[in-house]
Amino acid sequence: MPEPRDWDSEWLTLSATALDAVSRAETLEALEAARVDFLGRERGRLTGLLRSLKDMSIEERRRLGPQANALKDALEKSLEARRRSLESAALESGLAASRVDLSLPPPPWPRGRRHPVAETLREMTGILARLGFAPAEGPLVESDRNNFAGLNIPADHPARDLQDTFYLKDLPLLLRTHTSPVQVRYMEAHKAPLRIMSPGRVFRHEAVDASHSAVFHQVEGLYVDRKVSMADLKGTLSTFMRGLFGPQAAIRFRPSFFPFVEPGAEVDVRCLLCAGKGCPACKRTGWMEMLGAGLVHPNVLRFCGIDPGQWSGYAFGVGVERIALLRYGVPDIRMLYENDLRVLESLAP
Ligand code: DAH
Repeated sequence: MPEPRDWDSEWLTLSATALDAVSRAETLEALEAARVDFLGRERGRLTGLLRSLKDMSIEERRRLGPQANALKDALEKSLEARRRSLESAALESGLAASRVDLSLPPPPWPRGRRHPVAETLREMTGILARLGFAPAEGPLVESDRNNFAGLNIPADHPARDLQDTFYLKDLPLLLRTHTSPVQVRYMEAHKAPLRIMSPGRVFRHEAVDASHSAVFHQVEGLYVDRKVSMADLKGTLSTFMRGLFGPQAAIRFRPSFFPFVEPGAEVDVRCLLCAGKGCPACKRTGWMEMLGAGLVHPNVLRFCGIDPGQWSGYAFGVGVERIALLRYGVPDIRMLYENDLRVLESLAP
């Protein structure tokens, strides 16, 4: 004979814990576990109690039956309500986690831009174009004739030295050492008057240091017309330099020698750092050497088929990197060519 069960005390624990278990469930899984614990078909504790009603005395059944059924109803309702609230909480937190925050700054979006040398070259040719200079180009591989002979540079001139010039193997050709050969090419192919600018790459067999590179850029200018004078040259270069460095940029001519001009001059710009007072950047002279220029030598005009009795001209040649270093405040030409993006990105014109 099994021991008689104490229905009243079983009922007491059950009714006390069932609703509480539902409200304590923090997740849908916990809620389902609570449902199975009380209402599961096989082992649910409330299911078990309801099933046992038939084993009770009539009196017990009358007392507990309606209460157990009421608890079952209440439990089902509360399971359903709790399930809905847990589901909507899960939905809310999912939404909160994945919501796009439009106030956040966008991820970095690197923008490309022109290299400082390209930008400087572009500004230089822009200024010259507004002064009436038409673009002209020549090849990087040149003949001795165009690079030297036509420019009145004699065979024994030191500029031809192997030290300075890259010669091509087995060919009578070289890498142009300056943009001046474009003068020769253009004057031979066109009649005076003419006014051209020729930007491009040049090559020198030189040791690389803070201010020298074996490959660099120049812009050549050439103007041939009737009665072109040093005054024309000075006016043009003054406007050119003011365009590059600002309205306060002043220039001066210093007599100098280049075989392809006579007279020849080196052109200085008043020191951009100390405004002429004298500082380390200008070696305390107040001036910075900027370019070479002069009146086209009669031998050059004649070589190119232009009569020096009728025509005269001026020419100038300016290094692009030197201008770029000054404009961008870069102390070393190598910084322009190592392509370290951290350096290039830090350069503001
Ligand atoms: N060709 C010269 C050089 O590289 C620069 C130069 C000087 C060009 C005087 C000229 C000039 O047209 O007149 O270094």
